Parts: sequence; C-alpha cells; structure tokens
Amino acid sequence: MNIIRTTSAMTDWSRRLHREGVTIGFVPTMGALHEGHRALIRAARLACDAVVVSIFVNPTQFGPAEDLAKYPRQLRLDRALCAKEGVDAIFAPPAEAMYPAGFQTIVAVPTLARLWEGAARPHHFQGVATVVTKLLSLVQPDISWFGQKDFQQAALVRRLAKDLHLPGMLRVHPTVRERDGLALSSRNVYLSAQQREAAPVLYRALQAGAAAIRGGERRGERIQRLMAQTVKAQRSVTAEYLAVCDPSTLELLPILQRHAILLGAIRVGSVRLLDNMPVAIRRKP
Ligand code: PAF
Repeated sequence: MNIIRTTSAMTDWSRRLHREGVTIGFVPTMGALHEGHRALIRAARLACDAVVVSIFVNPTQFGPAEDLAKYPRQLRLDRALCAKEGVDAIFAPPAEAMYPAGFQTIVAVPTLARLWEGAARPHHFQGVATVVTKLLSLVQPDISWFGQKDFQQAALVRRLAKDLHLPGMLRVHPTVRERDGLALSSRNVYLSAQQREAAPVLYRALQAGAAAIRGGERRGERIQRLMAQTVKAQRSVTAEYLAVCDPSTLELLPILQRHAILLGAIRVGSVRLLDNMPVAIRRKP
C-alpha cells in the first residue's frame, strides 16, 4: 500500500494508473476510520480496480471554537484498516501541502451551505467544498464515495461536482449503524458511557417521524413536533434541529408529497451528533 504525502505524488500516481487503464475509486476521509468508512472502502473495492483513501483533517472546515486540535488522529490504526481492506494508496498530506503559503481560493455553495449544519457552523461548508474540490482534482477518481450520515454534505458535494464539472461520479453509501441505531461517526468516541446510552434517541426520533408519515401524517410541522417530543424525553440531550425537508434543496417541507428527508442534529454534552432518514410516500395505485 502506497502512502502518498505530496500533491504531485498523488497526481502522478493517478495519471500512471489511468494510463494503464486502471479505474480509481476514492474514499475521502478525515481518518479515525470506523465501520462506516470500511463500508465505503468495500463499495469502492467492488466497483473499481484500485482504491485510494484520503486521510486529512481539513483545518478550513473547523470553526475557531471547534474541535480541530482534539479531532481523533490515529494514522497507525487507519493504515492497518486500509491494508486489511486491500486499499492501494492512502493520501495523507500535511496541511502545508494542501494549504501552502499564499493559498487564498475558496469554493462556496452558498444556498445549500446556509441551512442546518451551515447555520450552526458558518464556515464549515466552504471548507468542505474547497477541500473536496482540491481532493477530486488531485485524485481524478472514476467514482468517489460519501456517507449518507452527512446528508447535507453529500447534497452539497453533488451540487459542487455538477457545477464545477469535477471528475468522476459520486455515490452516497447508506449510513452504517450500531445495533441500537446510533449512526457511526468518528465523534462517537467523545461520548461518555452515559452519553452513549442517551445518543440513540436521535435515531428513535427519526424513526418516530418516519412512522408518522407511514401512518398518513403529511404536515411537516406535526412530524417535526413529534420528533422533538421524542428527543425531549431524553433529558440529557438537546435537539439543535429536527426538520422535514426537500431532499435536493434541503428547504423545509410544509406538506409532504413524494420524497422527504428527515434531518436531525442533537447535542449530547459537548458532542454534536447528526443523523437523517429518507422517506418516500408511495402513491396509491
Ligand atoms: O466527511 C468527511 O470526513 C469530510 O468532511 C471530508 C469529506 C473528508 C472533507 O474533509
């Protein structure tokens, strides 16, 4: 397995493989790899001849009061997981390679970035859009995989890739969950035992929303209220938002018609957790 540290070595590696007719699958990550990442790597392995995983804790997507310094870093473990999954290369550049002195270009997807996570984390998505643009340009993948757990990120990257003609296709892989429904996330390691016990309330709230829709409820506000009540019952958890949205614009849906995405974010102590659940309303035949 190659460990690639420089941007020029990354493009050389991709160009060589493409010349040889090898297809490249790409899984962008910030490391602290877990079963959710493993599922993305396996999907990439199945679809492409070679797989590259990027491990880069991107400073520009963290706000000044956020957890950049304490974001989990465990390259040795991540390398072992990648080696076990047959990954061909890890792209792990130092921050100076991605953002050298004089760097000043930023990529913005203003409308999608303003909502939900963007409201809580004002510069987050411009950091994501900038680094994803750079990563896709360097790796030149045939297909890239993103996790559905970060639904807004996936929607924004889709928009970005389309608008800027970024290379390769995008695939969004379903969220991988613990047995009790908690969506896997690198931030779950911050939860104390008690907080870990409380955290699946977000999944239960989304399930309650989806069940109401299956039961015939179509009013977005009612569904949101139901989800909020579920979270409220868990006293140690605060809801940041629980919303019924259009899956492509992420705007609130007052009345559900066909497809919707239930989006949620909660705070458990100092840990913010996200999750979502797509719902489709079947028309009566
Ligand atoms: O989802 C993540 O891990 C990051 O936001 C990404 C897409 C690797 C960009 O830094």
